Amino acid sequence: MLRDLISLFEQAGELRRVCGASAIEEIGALTEMNAKREKPHALLFDEIQGYPAGYRVFSGMLDSPLRLATALGFEGVDSTEALLAKLENGRLQRWIDEAESYPLEEVERDGDVLHISPCESSGLNLDSFPAPLWHSGDGGRYIGTACSILTQGPDGGWVNAGCYRTMIKDPESVTISFSTTSRHGRAHVGAWWDAGRSAPVAIVVGGDPLLAQIAGVEVPFGISELQVAAAIRRKPMRVVKSDLTGLPIPADAELVLEGFISAGDESEEGPFGEATGYYASAHKLVPVARIQRIWHRKDPIILGGLPSKPPHDFEYPYAVIRSALMKDSLKAAGVTGVHAVWTSFSRQWTVVSVKQEHPGHGRQAAYIAANCGPGAYFSRYVVAVDHDINPQSVSEVLWAILTRADPGSDIEITRKGWGSPIDPMGNLFPEGHMYNTRAIIDATIPYTKRDLFPKVATVDPDRMRELSVKWADLFGSR
Ligand SMILES: Cc1cc2nc3c(=O)[nH]c(=O)nc-3n(C[C@H](O)[C@H](O)[C@H](O)COP(=O)(O)O)c2cc1C
Repeated sequence: MLRDLISLFEQAGELRRVCGASAIEEIGALTEMNAKREKPHALLFDEIQGYPAGYRVFSGMLDSPLRLATALGFEGVDSTEALLAKLENGRLQRWIDEAESYPLEEVERDGDVLHISPCESSGLNLDSFPAPLWHSGDGGRYIGTACSILTQGPDGGWVNAGCYRTMIKDPESVTISFSTTSRHGRAHVGAWWDAGRSAPVAIVVGGDPLLAQIAGVEVPFGISELQVAAAIRRKPMRVVKSDLTGLPIPADAELVLEGFISAGDESEEGPFGEATGYYASAHKLVPVARIQRIWHRKDPIILGGLPSKPPHDFEYPYAVIRSALMKDSLKAAGVTGVHAVWTSFSRQWTVVSVKQEHPGHGRQAAYIAANCGPGAYFSRYVVAVDHDINPQSVSEVLWAILTRADPGSDIEITRKGWGSPIDPMGNLFPEGHMYNTRAIIDATIPYTKRDLFPKVATVDPDRMRELSVKWADLFGSR
């Protein structure tokens, strides 16, 4: 899958191969600089200094409408609006509902088909892979950033895939940072510990970008992200059942670390530059996975998802998915007239545009967006705007706030929402990062004054479209 996607991205002119970069800060810096371009490329790093040619790192992978749409199986979609239209109206939920119809397909390991081979005991050395030191301030080399950590409870059942950052501790072990004990992978691990046993784990650090993407989405407890990815692809995921841990190793994976986590085996990890753009998590002890087997192809590709000061590497794909989920949640809650939703900056910034139908409509949409399922965690500012405002345009939203919201009466504060350990302000307050305070800004034109409100001084959008065709040499093909 990954290799097919790489070819498709290259054919579409969206991929750059970068040879000779260092894994120490340089891959990270280039990845971050690329993410800040107007149209970021997918970057495939090869001939990484000090590593065999073919040992590669892939970043920026789904950071464009076309690349995200291609990974999700939509052809000919290359705008955010078109992609949102595909994902809204319950598409994501349908994939989750359909997951049970796509059980894992067990296949035999076969060098030719699977291109993957275990290297056990002799030669087990995590340092032989080009795991980047992404930022100079990071506490170590993170081999798992866009990773999928596979776990299963001691009684069998569904296999969870969660994205939890993974740092190399020494050549034979890694740390896994579960932000909370409610993470599904952490719940599986805890169940093994309660049964007095070490928890098996398989860490897919290189493999299908779609699985890595879904591993970072809050799929409900009890549903396997492997099967959700299969439902999206409309074909079961092929796996090899490991004789070491019993876990299913995706047959098309590139690099998988397999081992065990024992109760009380902990180590300090981090710091790690986070998605808010800070090193904010408190220094903490996290579980250590002792690796007993490394599965890898001859020329493995590590997936990179580099958090940093936004916009960063994986800001865009998660913004698209969360925005679609949020729009569906508003609809399910009975909010009518929702035109568009955009939730970005790690969910701290959400904008809902509504075609106002009644007094209080903007506030209704914003209050619900601030605490519905996809909005509950780490929301900070939620802005309601009218439907003439594009929620994705920070300058349009700011203009609406400046001209349609009265600071004295249109900003509402709600307290004790669900906070995040990566909140840079979290530890400054007595309640710490468990809670946060959020602001709702109603920047819609006051409903009862809408007839009196001054007219907007701008060219009509239809006229703009007409003129940009007529004067194409001035405005391109927009
Ligand atoms: C790139 C990326 C990195 C993440 N890193 C972590 C992390 O280090 N620890 C964590 O607990 N959650 C992290 N998350 C959030 C979880 O992946 C997310 O909440 C996911 O739903 C967890 O899976 P689970 O619901 O199966 O536990 C990250 C998400 C993304 C997209």
